[in-house]
This record gives sequence, structure tokens and C-alpha cells, in this order.
Amino acid sequence: MKKHIAIAIDGPSGAGKSTLARMAAKKLGFIYVDTGALYRTVGLYALRQGADLKDAGAIGALLPDIRVEMRYDSAGTQRMLLNGEDVSELIRTPEVSMAASNVSALPPVRAFLLDTQRRMAEQHDVIMDGRDIGTVVLPEAQVKIFLTASAKERAIRRWRELREKGIDTDLEAVLRDIEQRDRNDSSRDIAPLRPADDAVMCDTTELDLDASLELIVDIVKQRIADGR
Ligand code: DC
Repeated sequence: MKKHIAIAIDGPSGAGKSTLARMAAKKLGFIYVDTGALYRTVGLYALRQGADLKDAGAIGALLPDIRVEMRYDSAGTQRMLLNGEDVSELIRTPEVSMAASNVSALPPVRAFLLDTQRRMAEQHDVIMDGRDIGTVVLPEAQVKIFLTASAKERAIRRWRELREKGIDTDLEAVLRDIEQRDRNDSSRDIAPLRPADDAVMCDTTELDLDASLELIVDIVKQRIADGR
């Protein structure tokens, strides 16, 4: 069986992982896998059930009733299905972001989603973004990038993105949200957000989108060439 190439992009919320990973995937002819969307889908289900989002037992008990599927439309865009319902847009609200951050700290949820992620990497050349891709999900990935930017810059980017979608929030609230999620994601016991030892660190605070993309594509090409 042909061994597929995997590129892991980890980093905190709002560092530009999904936008850059999607663009880089297109450039390199890889499939882009947004793993945050998996946690968001579980978070949405838990919210709908009114469950305690920090209770591993309660959330774990819901998991057998959840079918999370990733599909790709004709434009190559990832769609998320929750028990057959397309929830791709519904999972993008600030409320679901926080729910995802909470449920993602629970061991049964991480175990539940691990196989889905690994299966994608077994079947395709992937660029996968998340928090623990280089450390836990795909420790053998040929390229690992840890993407960061200052919390302030990430908040500004997320705020602009939400406004473009017609979601009206103030910048301070978005910054507080980002800092809270950073704390949640970095301090949890299981699969905390941290760079893999062999990750390349990329800080995009001072870089625009084109420069960030160029940096990432260069790193990928260099690493793949070195590996040959
Ligand atoms: O990347 P995102 O903002 O869509 O992710 C939503 C939440 O899911 C985030 O707060 C942390 C969690 N997450 C995770 O724990 N592990 C991943 N591989 C991806 C996301």
C-alpha cells in the first residue's frame, strides 16, 4: 500500500490554521482535514442535549448516539454531518466554539474521534489541522508546523471573520474568548495544545495571508525534499 504524506498543523485558536491549511492543501494537491470541526460537531450535539459539557461521564454516555461524518463536496470543501444532518454552518458560532473547547478536554471524546482522524490520513495525502495532530494523532507525520500569532492579533482576525458572517460581537469579548480557550486547550491533562518536539514554529503576527502561505508551502516542500 502506498504510504501517504501527512502534514500536521497545530496551534491556538485564530492563528490562521484552517485558512492556511486549506490554501496550502489546494496548492499541494492534498486533502484538507479540519479536526476542530469534529469536536465542534460533538459540542453541538451536547449543547442540544443540554448536557454538562465538563462532565466526562455525561458526555461519554451520549457518544454512542452520535454519528459524526466528514464529507467533501465537489469544490473539495469539508462538510460535517451529525447523524446525517449537515451542520457545517451551525458549528461555527461562538457558543459552539466554547462547547467544543470544553468537550475536547474529555478523554472519551478524544478517544471517540481518534480513529476518524487516523483513517483519513491512511487513505489520503492530508494536511490536518488541530491541537494535537503532531503530538498524538499523527506523530509520524512527515511535516509538523506549529502556527501561532499574538492573542490580540488572533482576536482581531476572528472578530473580522465573525463580522463578515454577520455575527456582531465586540473585540474585547472575542479576545476574552480566545484567551479562555487558549487556557482550556493548553492546560488540559489529555492531549494539551503544545508543539511537537520536531515541529517548525511559525509566528504569523506580522505576516499577511500571502506571506504566511508562502512560508508554509516552503517549509512543506523543504521537509519533504529532505525526507527523500
Ligand atoms: O480549531 P477549532 O477552533 O475549530 O477547534 C475547536 C475546539 O476543538 C478547540 O477549542 C480545541 C478543540 N480541538 C482539539 O482539542 N483538538 C483538535 N485536534 C482540534 C480541535
